[in-house]
Amino acid sequence: MALDLRSDFPILEREVNGHPLIYLDNAATTQRPERVIEAVSRFYRELNANVHRGIHYLSREASELYEGAHEALAQFINADFREVVFTSNTTDSLNMIAWGWALRNVAEGDRIVTTVMEHHSNMLPWRTVAELRGAEVVYADVDDEGMPLMKQLESLIDERTRLVAISGMSNVTGAIPDVGRVVRAAHQVGAVAVLDGAQMVPHMPVDVRQLGVDFLAFSGHKMLGPTGTGVLYGRLDLLEEMTPPRPGGGTIRDVTLEGVDWASLPWRHEGGTPNIAGAIGLAEAARYLMDVGMEAVREHEKELTRRGLEMLSSIDGVILYGPKDVERRGGIIAFNIEGMDPHMVGALLDSRGIAVRTGLHCAHPLHRRLGAEEGTVRASFYLYNTLEEVKVLAEALREIASLA
Ligand SMILES: Cc1ncc(COP(=O)(O)O)c(C=O)c1O
Repeated sequence: MALDLRSDFPILEREVNGHPLIYLDNAATTQRPERVIEAVSRFYRELNANVHRGIHYLSREASELYEGAHEALAQFINADFREVVFTSNTTDSLNMIAWGWALRNVAEGDRIVTTVMEHHSNMLPWRTVAELRGAEVVYADVDDEGMPLMKQLESLIDERTRLVAISGMSNVTGAIPDVGRVVRAAHQVGAVAVLDGAQMVPHMPVDVRQLGVDFLAFSGHKMLGPTGTGVLYGRLDLLEEMTPPRPGGGTIRDVTLEGVDWASLPWRHEGGTPNIAGAIGLAEAARYLMDVGMEAVREHEKELTRRGLEMLSSIDGVILYGPKDVERRGGIIAFNIEGMDPHMVGALLDSRGIAVRTGLHCAHPLHRRLGAEEGTVRASFYLYNTLEEVKVLAEALREIASLA
């Protein structure tokens, strides 16, 4: 059954360029429900204090909420509270793994395996570590639908491999690779499996125990939470052995001039005053999503995507990217109109109140591989989008395509 949650999201009342806003840029960032806005605003109005540092009432109250936020996120991905480190976004989380774990554990001659599908945030941190360590980064190719070639990926994972990094859902094609298979291949050679969950975690049920991943990174702002929030999940023993990548205030039990006794997990990895209001808002977002149910979110988006693909593929001149089967893709449709610059298409949609993303979406190698060097137009759905909106998009594209 289709979800009907629009009244929870105040911004969806807006008009843009004289049209009701149709917000289809959810892969970039999502909108926030009243509950999240209220949680953040209440923190500043009634509770504001620093955490972990004071004995005064407000500080204790803020600390409790901040710790409770970790509990909520742990529940959301079925992790232990100590395995949930708050960061500022996915990019930050992946860099934490790079600087805290990989820099120590990747040596000269070692290998990091990833794919051509990745967002730059799941490529560049590994490249930097490899450069510093004299290791190599190798990439599994994708097929013409943008799906990583699993056999090739498995053959690249050899005994030199220390880390395998893959996205759970492409931010361009929506492709959902078989993460379980990647994890098994990584573990067979003793490598750690890193999952970039920026697009996956907000849109489908994710259970870190079931997936067996060692690290998982995701962003709060892509799952109805505030900007400047993100999560690094790490297996307990890995977070224990990881060098705190943000050493400083809040990360220690004791410091002498000779040494450091690090704080317990997860605090040792959260250096400095954290984004307290953001964390509280993110927890509210996770609770909201759990109330809706992640299965329901996935089903809703699958239906929008299936119908969207049907409608768009019937328009002359529309080129679609990504898997045809909605079981193997998320609610992201990247496309082009033959003979038209993607930015032009985006601007024409904007003039009708339809917000989409245009360009290379921080995935330049993937666009090159797909033969879309000039970029793509990307419509991405979330739980508040409706079939009616997808129809309006398709009608607008039919008109725009007739201009080409
Ligand atoms: C697959 C993927 N990975 C990583 C990121 C980076 O996320 P953030 O900008 O929140 O750090 C994004 C953002 O679009 C993404 O889609």
